[in-house]
Amino acid sequence: MKTPMKISSFEEYHQVYKHSVEQPEQFWEGIANNFLWRKKWDKTLEWNFTEPKIKWFQGAKLNITENCLDRHLETLGDKPAIIWEPNDPSEDHRVLTYRQLYEKVCQFAHVLKNNGAKKGDRICIYMPMVPELAIAVLACARIGAIHSVVFGGFSAQSIADRIKDAECNIVITADGGYRGNKEIPLKSIIDDALVQCPSIKRCIVLTRSRTPISMIKGRDVWWEDEIKKVETQGNNTYEAEEMGAEDMLFILYTSGSTGKPKGVVHTCGGYMVYTGYTFANAFQYNQGEVYFCTADIGWITGHSYIAYGPLTQGATSVLFEGVPTWPSPARLWDIVEKYKVNILYTAPTAIRSLMSFGDDLLKGKDFSSLKKLGSVGEPINEEAWHWFDEKIGQGNCPIVDTWWQTETGGFMISPIAGVTPTKPGYATLPLPGIQPILVDENGKEIEGNGVSGNLCIKFPWPGMLRTTYGDHERCRTTYFATYHDLYFTGDGCLRDDDGYYRITGRVDDVLNVSGHRIGTAEVENAINMHSSVVESAVVGYPHDIKGQGVYAYVVCPNQHGDEELARKDIMMTVSRIIGAIARPDKIQFVSGLPKTRSGKIMRRILRKIAEGDTANLGDTSTLLDPAVVEEIKAGAL
Ligand code: WT7
Repeated sequence: MKTPMKISSFEEYHQVYKHSVEQPEQFWEGIANNFLWRKKWDKTLEWNFTEPKIKWFQGAKLNITENCLDRHLETLGDKPAIIWEPNDPSEDHRVLTYRQLYEKVCQFAHVLKNNGAKKGDRICIYMPMVPELAIAVLACARIGAIHSVVFGGFSAQSIADRIKDAECNIVITADGGYRGNKEIPLKSIIDDALVQCPSIKRCIVLTRSRTPISMIKGRDVWWEDEIKKVETQGNNTYEAEEMGAEDMLFILYTSGSTGKPKGVVHTCGGYMVYTGYTFANAFQYNQGEVYFCTADIGWITGHSYIAYGPLTQGATSVLFEGVPTWPSPARLWDIVEKYKVNILYTAPTAIRSLMSFGDDLLKGKDFSSLKKLGSVGEPINEEAWHWFDEKIGQGNCPIVDTWWQTETGGFMISPIAGVTPTKPGYATLPLPGIQPILVDENGKEIEGNGVSGNLCIKFPWPGMLRTTYGDHERCRTTYFATYHDLYFTGDGCLRDDDGYYRITGRVDDVLNVSGHRIGTAEVENAINMHSSVVESAVVGYPHDIKGQGVYAYVVCPNQHGDEELARKDIMMTVSRIIGAIARPDKIQFVSGLPKTRSGKIMRRILRKIAEGDTANLGDTSTLLDPAVVEEIKAGAL
């Protein structure tokens, strides 16, 4: 039986939700039947959250790219799959129809094969936001190789860490990339990374910026040369590799509260069903609508809601290379007007930033094509919500505030556009199939409404992570060991009197800076690499535009010279080690950190000081050296 993917009334939502909890397997089978399978599953679900072991659609065979491309050729072959808007608005835009995208993916699949790629290999992708990024991702999936996309803002060291962790054998990059008025020397960063990466046998380089680069004999080849070889052979089709539903589709690294980023693993069958279903349902996507997600494919939002989700649904997706503020802070509105965008999906940080430039920039812009709006990445404050609603949506567009995570694969708690009554600041209700639960510190369920607690999920869903690459134990301890038999999200959450959910932010040592996840421990490690730093502690503080800013307390005893210069040096170190996105906004030099007698840093106190809330620091009597708190308070930035 096939269940419709889209719900059309609030009443129906309640019915379907109830069914999805009572008969979860039947519910997901119905959804999965909307997709193209080479062979259907023998067993819908097998699971336990203790190991954890989660298997959806066991025995099924498929290739996700047949769902994204092949199955649309007959009906949608000449419809645009991707509309590419370049960084510089004076450069020509590009449109790729489903047929053209199909051919390009097939050609590049041959390129990968010709360069030694096999099913199961890990391939690192470090590219600008050009159509070839989507093509590279899909070509990996076509041949059954596992992609690991690294966002173009990460440093050589971060790339090397990720390549080594996944033992990638191929990397795909470009000579350079553009973001606003900056040019990013991608290939040169890759060259620095590869010094540490003997597993890489081949580097495929796309021409984008024509920056002079070095090409290493035997290792580096040009994308265009390789495509030419395939064209000469006339190879415009590629028989997709048959994948098991539980075979790995990709790895995406994300930060946690401890250690290096972990490789979140998503699998072919469940992820396909989940991203396709959530995209169709939450956005109520109708054939022909133009959809624009402003994220980068380097993050999960881009994986699920630029690449896979929309393509499985035959959607037309705008892929934007640049940034919302260049050449002017009206750039997104110009794109909306240019392509008559119907669905705009962006982040609160972008909304707040564009708001800050004033409403004059909106004058004369045509927003009339917009029908639905979406928000993702962090809690949206009411002011931004209302501005988005009134100024951009003209009061006519439902806003879907989608709460989810890299680990969840797709939307978890989200309004269904036009169906779920919305409330500013609320992700509202769980999508059918999702069973959230709030627990207290001891893991005891907090029942009823008008309560808050730690947000967990008590039943598996097809899009959830299966493991963390190469370290299943880490997956268990991070997500499944905090509370017995529950997936722990790391978020705090409020459920109001109507049963509506409002995410209040991370309860662990993870920061959310402009919608990017940053581990405080990672930033501390990077700061501590600086030769004059002895010790540091990093916390978040409220930031008007970024949501959270990075506040670093640094112990630097031999720092007697120019403080500003020392700050810049430390920031440079963090940019080098992680990437500019993790650079502290504030650095306070301190003589010591507040610690308990057992040597644990009292972050609670540091957080309060960073927030400017020094009146109420709570109990400091257990501190090793209470005087240090007074000094830190006095020097707070
Ligand atoms: C964390 C996940 C999921 C794509 C982007 C971020 C926060 C995400 C919302 C939202 C409040 C949100 C949570 C979550 N978050 N969406 N709509 N409202 N908070 O993915 O990097 O894996 O980060 O982002 O804190 O745990 P991510």
